[in-house]
Amino acid sequence: MLHRAHNRFDAQELWQQDHDHFLHPFTHFDSFRKDGSLVLVEGDGCYVTDAHGKRYFDGIGGMWCVNAGYGRKEIAEAMAEQALQLCYTTTFVDVTNAPAARLAAKLAALAPGDLNHVTYATSGSCAVDTAIRLAHYCQARRGEKNRRYVISRKNSYHGSTYLGMTVGLRDGDQPEQFRYIPDLVHHLSAPYPYRRPEGMSLEAFSDFLVDEFAAKIEELGAENIACFIAEPAQASGGVCIPPPGYLPRISELCTKHGILFIADEIVTAFGRLGHMFASQDAFGIIPDMIICAKGLTSGYIPLSAVIYSDAIHDSISAPDPDAWFTHGYTYAGHPVACAVALKNIEIIEREDLCGNAARVGDYLEKRLSELRSLPIVGDVRGRRLMMCVEYVKDKATREKLPDSCNISKRISNECETKGLLVRPLGHLDVLSPPLIMTMAEVDFVVDTLRGAILKATEELRAEGVI
Ligand SMILES: Cc1ncc(COP(=O)(O)O)c(C=O)c1O
Repeated sequence: MLHRAHNRFDAQELWQQDHDHFLHPFTHFDSFRKDGSLVLVEGDGCYVTDAHGKRYFDGIGGMWCVNAGYGRKEIAEAMAEQALQLCYTTTFVDVTNAPAARLAAKLAALAPGDLNHVTYATSGSCAVDTAIRLAHYCQARRGEKNRRYVISRKNSYHGSTYLGMTVGLRDGDQPEQFRYIPDLVHHLSAPYPYRRPEGMSLEAFSDFLVDEFAAKIEELGAENIACFIAEPAQASGGVCIPPPGYLPRISELCTKHGILFIADEIVTAFGRLGHMFASQDAFGIIPDMIICAKGLTSGYIPLSAVIYSDAIHDSISAPDPDAWFTHGYTYAGHPVACAVALKNIEIIEREDLCGNAARVGDYLEKRLSELRSLPIVGDVRGRRLMMCVEYVKDKATREKLPDSCNISKRISNECETKGLLVRPLGHLDVLSPPLIMTMAEVDFVVDTLRGAILKATEELRAEGVI
């Protein structure tokens, strides 16, 4: 079905304005100069339409975020109503607004364990910054002023602020032209089972990772470590589901050594793995803090939150006339954004989108795994509606294809011509569709992706690469 959108937009003019004036996040200058952007103008359910009127199944869900799907009138109405009623209040010090208060209580009710307190930010990156500042502040209020190190993992992505880019460490994310915060973050191995050392069992890999963590604590001294930050399932660093037992064992070590465990659930919260939060329900841990963003508002408006424990709150709020939590943002607890989040969560609950993500996601996992038999597919992994396909030159050795093949982009471009958006990321194509996806759409996605992989395989053969 073609939408009315293409009549209302001058596709060439938009392309040119964007090309000439918009520096995009993560721009690759050489290709952008040549190709510019795909200009999207309309969204409906799982579909988006470009300025030429071409419609695509959005296998990326915006950017892991349009969980409830596009074009929800109820959300737009909640947004409009709140904007008319009270478009803004500060939340500094001792002022609040109704949606911010209600949403804090709702998040406390949904989050696992005693995570009963909420502080807001506007993006995932800012919430990561908040969580780490909160960890430092909490440790200091506990009298542990030397605890400043942050332990993170390779292949992690925690956002793009100065601190976020210091804490995360995906391949290529720390080019030398930028600066990073020195002597703060220590990176451990990624829990990336597909690329674990040759011949190592999954159980042994889990032991290796836990031993490495214990050795790092020993090396730095627990008394110097503030927090450990981890995506329960590493998202843009490779859609890595950690080996069984790894997260609970790391969590135990954190508790034993007074290290705060920060779960970055910016991708995994609000249904993608079939649960509101993945920490406990998918991985059996109750962290000290959970960071969420993206699916919190299904991308309708920017909002993020850090949900943290009673124990942290007791420490930071202990009586002290000089104690101020000197952190926060002008738009923290923005009433319009919080109203959108409340409506979005209401929809996720009412329509049982977690249940749909579980059912359809299990089917997506099953159907995608059929691609394993293709000659350049090294691995298919992920869970439910957070999946990826990793391409290789040699399945036996897991050798990667040369970067010059641009394999994931080649395949995503072909998918695009067939009306499917998937996200190319290095040697992977990633899928994170809206949670309203149907079984029939799973078939379309997998069949289209298969066709694109086979086409690329033929091309690579003709080019003599494989
Ligand atoms: C796990 C994770 N943490 C942090 C971020 C940063 O969020 P934002 O782009 O909203 O700043 C992202 C974004 O993709 C993410 O996936």
